[in-house]
Amino acid sequence: LWTPGNIIEDMTARVRQQVGEDHVVLGLSGGVDSSVVGALLHKAIGDQLTCVFVDTGLLRHQEGDQVMATFARHMGVRVIRVDAEERFLKALEGVTDPEEKRRIIGRLFVEVFDEEAGRLTNARWLAQGTIYPDVIESAGSSTGKAHVIKSHHNVGGLPETMKLGLVEPLRELFKDEVRRIGVELGLPSEMVYRHPFPGPGLGVRILGEVKKEYADLLRRADHIFIEELRRDGLYDQVSQAFAVFLPVRSVGVMGDGRRYDFVVALRAVETIDFMTARWAHLPYEFLDRVSRRIINEIPGISRVTYDISGKPPATIEWE
Ligand code: XMP
Repeated sequence: LWTPGNIIEDMTARVRQQVGEDHVVLGLSGGVDSSVVGALLHKAIGDQLTCVFVDTGLLRHQEGDQVMATFARHMGVRVIRVDAEERFLKALEGVTDPEEKRRIIGRLFVEVFDEEAGRLTNARWLAQGTIYPDVIESAGSSTGKAHVIKSHHNVGGLPETMKLGLVEPLRELFKDEVRRIGVELGLPSEMVYRHPFPGPGLGVRILGEVKKEYADLLRRADHIFIEELRRDGLYDQVSQAFAVFLPVRSVGVMGDGRRYDFVVALRAVETIDFMTARWAHLPYEFLDRVSRRIINEIPGISRVTYDISGKPPATIEWE
């Protein structure tokens, strides 16, 4: 019988049998899959689990703090948080091409993760949030957009000194099953039902060159948009919503003064499979409120636009 409770029982037993007394390392990303693996392994093997959370500086508003609050403080999971913002920003300096940015972020992510994991000299296993659709996808062609940590380690890119076995408890599950298990394991539902977030993070939502100043502005704008969607009960009605930073300046007026600041685009889509998508027809009053809040509350942004492009021909992300 498929109930989340039964599946959890079954999976924890299998994990215990697989790893025995050994130690396991897991890369937590803040996403649903790795979070559920974290909660599951904590239940199965407790202190034998160490998580590594790489803060790339390209995450959403307070995302790192939330991961630490949920796992470390609340659940008592051992989590190593690596502040790698400066390294990522440095590596991205002067880089404007989207695919080049993806390659740099992906490569550096694996490098930083491996450095940390390599310090855990007693780790024998690497846990991953691979789910059934990932298994199918990597059997076919690689799109280059798959989660880098998964694809990297799956193809055996681990350093020679670190011969870790793989623990992939979610390999046979679909996303909705993973979510149900996450809820059953006690993860907050805002985490379990969060919109997808691309591996390269804000790196592909800041058009062109990535700078800290831009990332900070974008985080604030994105947070306002998401907060208002939740307030109006619209968050769960759209499949994915986010803000995009446009590094162009536009004139505005505020009080007696003239502003000449950056532009933000809001994107919200409805989709089943993310292969095609319709732009969400959000209420004008709602968009009006979000736009006013962003421009009034964030010095540095003088204009907000709403993206009315479907996929195809446009993609969901801007880069
Ligand atoms: P596009 O922009 O291709 O996005 O219409 C479709 C879905 O994929 C996500 N996406 C990514 N996910 N790494 C990821 O892990 C990436 O490089 C990447 N690019 C796009 C996007 O957020 C959407 O959900």
